[in-house]
Amino acid sequence: MRWEDGVLHLLDQREIPEREVWLELRTWQEVRDAIRDMAVRGAPAIGAAAAYGMVLAALGNSDRSEARAGLAASRPTAVNLFWALDRMDEVQLWTSEAALAKAQAIELAEVDSNARMASLASSIGKPGCRVLTICNTGALATPGVGTALGVIRELRRLGWLERVYSCETRPRQQGLKLTAWELHKEGIPFRSIVDSAAASLMAQGQVDFVVAGADRIVANGDSANKIGTYMLAVLAQHHGLPFYIVAPSSTVDPALQTGAQIEIEEREASEITGGLPFPVWNPGFDVTPGGLITGIVTERGLYRAPYDFAAPKEPDIVPTGDYPA
Ligand code: MRU
Repeated sequence: MRWEDGVLHLLDQREIPEREVWLELRTWQEVRDAIRDMAVRGAPAIGAAAAYGMVLAALGNSDRSEARAGLAASRPTAVNLFWALDRMDEVQLWTSEAALAKAQAIELAEVDSNARMASLASSIGKPGCRVLTICNTGALATPGVGTALGVIRELRRLGWLERVYSCETRPRQQGLKLTAWELHKEGIPFRSIVDSAAASLMAQGQVDFVVAGADRIVANGDSANKIGTYMLAVLAQHHGLPFYIVAPSSTVDPALQTGAQIEIEEREASEITGGLPFPVWNPGFDVTPGGLITGIVTERGLYRAPYDFAAPKEPDIVPTGDYPA
């Protein structure tokens, strides 16, 4: 994501890994469509893009409330979208300069949060670890180094990472296409697996822990993430493996008490059927109960149950990365 001279440049995630196509967005409606149609995806990236959508609204003298409502309606589950729009609401004197300053502050704060979370990698990893992950949680999905993938990058930098197993992530294949693309580019050792191979992989003792991102974490620690994440948490418990969530505070929604209150996006049948005329149920996300989560890493530190995201938390360990303290 790049802001240049009044234009939001977005790497079109639908084209990865085949092509690197940069979209040039000049109106808030184009940003809304890019979020809705999944050109930009991943909770923190969606939030930052929406903030720049509001900047484009200001630049184009569009109605502020209409733009806000339109962007808010683009996708329902990732709370980062609403969080970023709430932050944009804090701009009182609504000029394009003020909106741009706020959007850039949001983006930079996410970059910083990503770095801080990555610096906590040694609190959940160990030398020689093999890590299982799902969906895309890297530099494509965030304005920074990523959430779960940022932690994986740091484990690699520490020399602690033996291998990543990346779930394909049916049906949109964010793991097979996006995560594999990022890992391949950086020379991080990995293997892609179909989602349904996760149980066998764990049974064979090939996984040391699971790490995933999140789209919305509520007060009791219940965490919505890409469909299939809950299944991994159940499997991890069965095999006695730790299961971690890594997500910035912008993904925490303290207004909701339990995961049952999270709106789960239901997506079109064609993602599964490829046009066959059969009925399907296609939720984009599931909710992992807080009780199955070993710990939740935010930029404030490592939280364990009972979760209390209201209080700032000191990191359990001293950060090891070359990241801002
Ligand atoms: O439907 P998507 O591709 O937007 O879903 C993305 C995910 O579920 C990610 O795992 C989540 O946003 C965490 S990203 C840092």
